[in-house]
Amino acid sequence: MADHAADAIENVLHESRVFPPPADFAARANVRSLDEYEQMWQRAKDDPEGFWGELAAKLDWFQPFEKVLSGGFPDVKWFEGGKLNACYNCVDRHLSTWRKNKAAIIWEGEPGDSRVLRYQDLHREVCKFANVLKELGVGKGDRVTIYMPMIPELAIAVLACARIGAVHSVVFGGFSADAVAERNNDAQSKLIITADAGWRRGKEVPLKDAVDESLEKSPTVEKVIVVERTGRDVQMVQDRDYWWHELMEHASAECEPEVMDAEDPLFILYTSGSTGHPKGVLHTTAGYLLGTMMTSYWVFDLKDDDTYWCTADIGWITGHSYIVYGPLANGATTLMYEGAPNWPHEGRFWEIVEKYRVNIFYTAPTAIRAFIKWGEEWPERYDLSSLRLLGTVGEPINPEAWMWYHRVIGKERCPIVDTWWQTETGAIMISPLPGVTPTKPGSCTRPLPGVVPDVVSKEGTSLPANAGGYLVIRQPWPSMLRTLYGDHERFVKTYFSEVPGMYFAGDGARRDEDGYFWIMGRVDDVLNVSGHRLSTMEIESALVSHPAVAEAAVVGFPHEIKGEGICCFVVLKEGEGGDELRQQLKEHVRKQIGAIATPDQIRFAVALPKTRSGKIMRRLLRDIAAGREQVGDTTTLEDYSVLAKLRESSE
Ligand code: PRX
Repeated sequence: MADHAADAIENVLHESRVFPPPADFAARANVRSLDEYEQMWQRAKDDPEGFWGELAAKLDWFQPFEKVLSGGFPDVKWFEGGKLNACYNCVDRHLSTWRKNKAAIIWEGEPGDSRVLRYQDLHREVCKFANVLKELGVGKGDRVTIYMPMIPELAIAVLACARIGAVHSVVFGGFSADAVAERNNDAQSKLIITADAGWRRGKEVPLKDAVDESLEKSPTVEKVIVVERTGRDVQMVQDRDYWWHELMEHASAECEPEVMDAEDPLFILYTSGSTGHPKGVLHTTAGYLLGTMMTSYWVFDLKDDDTYWCTADIGWITGHSYIVYGPLANGATTLMYEGAPNWPHEGRFWEIVEKYRVNIFYTAPTAIRAFIKWGEEWPERYDLSSLRLLGTVGEPINPEAWMWYHRVIGKERCPIVDTWWQTETGAIMISPLPGVTPTKPGSCTRPLPGVVPDVVSKEGTSLPANAGGYLVIRQPWPSMLRTLYGDHERFVKTYFSEVPGMYFAGDGARRDEDGYFWIMGRVDDVLNVSGHRLSTMEIESALVSHPAVAEAAVVGFPHEIKGEGICCFVVLKEGEGGDELRQQLKEHVRKQIGAIATPDQIRFAVALPKTRSGKIMRRLLRDIAAGREQVGDTTTLEDYSVLAKLRESSE
């Protein structure tokens, strides 16, 4: 297990504060008592088919399913024989209720413009855009890349794909042209939806330019649809590129939803793995929708009068599950914000909370650490009294940050839900229920109903309380990934071979004497930078593709705001390297992968520490990057002098 995981254990072992749910919150919560939770959990474990089969009645089906669960790990099917449409469940079904005029999406642009789409408006826009897609030749099963800023058209595009049965592959707007091309090719996308640009910290992010560049390497893409967002001058290629607003002008607002099988693919979302290309995590229709709908209801305690805000980008799984599908399936009001938390000032998030009287606020520990740094005076300037529930996701939250969130944002009256899950799990897996679970700062607490996690040794044996080990899931759950797109073998190998018979999450964890889970970070070569997964291997390949570089090793180090920073040890083909090359290499990685992968440190080295068999000793590099004195075992190190030289190679 990685050393940083062991450090995390040290940090949290001494945490003994416990916060019971506030009585007034518990009194009207969607799940109200520990007994109720425990009964649900036990029932779901003992009789998953009965449990999920009953809940599935909360979805609208065109045809009922015949069997709840078929097969076992790794190849499971949920709700076989059932027919439904995810878009219909998120939009249409609310139109026959009083919710037709309820706000579905409240949107705030970075420059301060705003839009509200009621469920009826959303339905109209989605139907029109679904017709636009069909008109351009997109049909059931076709893949569509979506590379957009956080504007309402992004949610509309996602739902329109779901409506016609096209499989969306949303690529985060911060990724580079090369990253877009790689994902287009892997998914064999037929069409891309983008915008001229998006706003980020007052500057334009030139998305269409990146798409143009990606298309030079994406032979499968035939058409491009472009939303006009900033008015930036972009190149439009005849018979390939179309303006969104022109296509929408004459589109019909009538579009029957496609009848989809429960197990038909809903979307692909790429995520980093420890080896090779990004993994195309594939989610299917019914299980994913039910999982996101129920977890939104349980964990966020959604009520019809809530304004709910998840600050993630729809380019990540958090945005898919908890901005779009989960909240809308519940008929909730979901808020979307386009820009940065510190633009035009560090109080922007709190200004939005005040402006829309946000009740439920879901963000990431990296953001909370930035708020702490910017100072309490920012949240203090705004009225945050509408908030009733806070959440976090993406990485372990350090107890200090948890306490700050509790005190400064939650005013010591809002429960905090620390939600553990992954792109692959589709929905939240381990989390407090806000009206039920006493919370401990730094722990994601207990599993949700239907989730059977364990902490095991490499052989798969359950470990006793407080022993660190591998986090696994022992039983299938409806919103789990079904495959890695185009590479089922890799799917089986990555998730079901490390620990036989169980889903291997790639995280280290321990479970305390109360059955609370404490996540200790990744056990593979995956970094968690600002709550986003980045593969060390991908960054290494990017570095090695630079003509000056002979060899590179990338490790994480503790970073005040980002959680983990990126430190690159680089061996040059010749010469010493200096600031200019350092800058060039950072730019190079940025261009190949995207701004999120920009290295924090580049250290030039004459050689990398290796074992006799030639394996890079990352453990040692991590110590050096973190500035730790050498504590690990170095007996297998081939050349001791390499270490001494590396220590001198600071920036
Ligand atoms: O290491 C865990 C960490 O984020 C990983 C999943 O990353 P991704 O698929 O990008 O999804 C992020 C949003 C769901 C996990 O393997 N992680 C996520 N949530 C938590 C967490 N680590 C600790 N505590 C959490 N609440």
